[in-house]
Amino acid sequence: MFYANITGWGKCLPPARLTNHDISQVVDTSDDWITTRTGIRERRISHVSTDMLASTAAMNALDCAGLDAKDIDLVLLATCSPSTLVANTASQVQQTIGAKNAAACDVNAACSGFLYALQNATAQIRTGMIKRAVVIGAERMTWYVNWQRRDSAVLFGDGAGAVVLEASDEPSGLLATKTGCDSEDRDILHIRNFGTNVDKYNAPVGPSDILFEGREVFKRAVNGMTGACDDVLAQAQLKLEDINVLIPHQANLRIIQAIQSKLKLPDDAVMVNIENYGNTSAATIPIALCEALEQGLIKPKANIMSAAFGAGLTWAASYIKWGSRVTPIIQPSHQLTPSDKSGLELITNASKHCI
Ligand code: ACO
Repeated sequence: MFYANITGWGKCLPPARLTNHDISQVVDTSDDWITTRTGIRERRISHVSTDMLASTAAMNALDCAGLDAKDIDLVLLATCSPSTLVANTASQVQQTIGAKNAAACDVNAACSGFLYALQNATAQIRTGMIKRAVVIGAERMTWYVNWQRRDSAVLFGDGAGAVVLEASDEPSGLLATKTGCDSEDRDILHIRNFGTNVDKYNAPVGPSDILFEGREVFKRAVNGMTGACDDVLAQAQLKLEDINVLIPHQANLRIIQAIQSKLKLPDDAVMVNIENYGNTSAATIPIALCEALEQGLIKPKANIMSAAFGAGLTWAASYIKWGSRVTPIIQPSHQLTPSDKSGLELITNASKHCI
């Protein structure tokens, strides 16, 4: 049985920033409300579609691993904001990065999508079906936002992160995982006016909109992620004090703090970057993983716990044993084509079309 070592990591954050002050010019909100309730100070607005964010993160991850895209067997893209549904977005990524020998598939488990995809690709490597995979979390969540609704407009952002997995004899990579879905409550977090359940034959279709029962989602996220972490610790036969770094989904700073307090982890063991990017759904964990490495939070052989919660209601927790290398073989240099527009300029037109 092989292991699936993580040998590359990369990210892509679009350049345009949208601060809390900017949003307060579009809807009735304030920097004070947003930072106090969510911990978010700004988010990125993408001027390109999800596949470009994903491809750029993937190319950085491949350089980090020192691999040629042609050596990749699988491109797995976790997203709930695809550039195109048919053809799938992963096929565009496969073409852009030049991974012409790879299978290409999208995975949708909303904010839990990256951990679901990591589990899937790891299983394929561990059973010997494939040798190398790129797993990406990429989202353009602001495409769905109704900029007239302050409750959702302040929460989301765009971005991508990716990892490269390679078959290895070294016991490393994803070693224990638990995924699940509480579907009876799937309606408390959803996007409306998108999908074939919209009755376009009898009524005009309105703009898309992210709807959620914030307080309910909050409670379930804390309980779901903490419970999944406990399950994974038991599966891996580890204790909490064995965990060096927690990389949680970044939906709300208060959710992260509640999980940290339940798991009794010190501040320097928890990766937090929500203040800069907001909730980028499936992309939060791979972006946070990259930044934890950049900041030196992850040391060789570190024990990493990651947990996510999202629409479905999906949830996941994963124990990752890091390998020996914590620096890229080739430094990341891939960037998006530049844009001269600010975040506020990018959303201004979109906000006029919302009702
Ligand atoms: N600016 C100012 N006031 C606001 C804003 C805003 N952006 N949004 C809501 N309010 C007002 C409400 O209208 C309400 O006013 P009222 O008391 O006069 O009725 C008041 O603030 C409190 O609203 P709540 O929704 O009860 O605020 P809460 O403290 O629960 O915070 C939040 C809302 C941040 C969404 C929180 O519930 C949360 O983080 N939930 C979990 C995360 C989540 O749902 N994320 C979206 C889904 S994606 C995912 O995380 C998996």
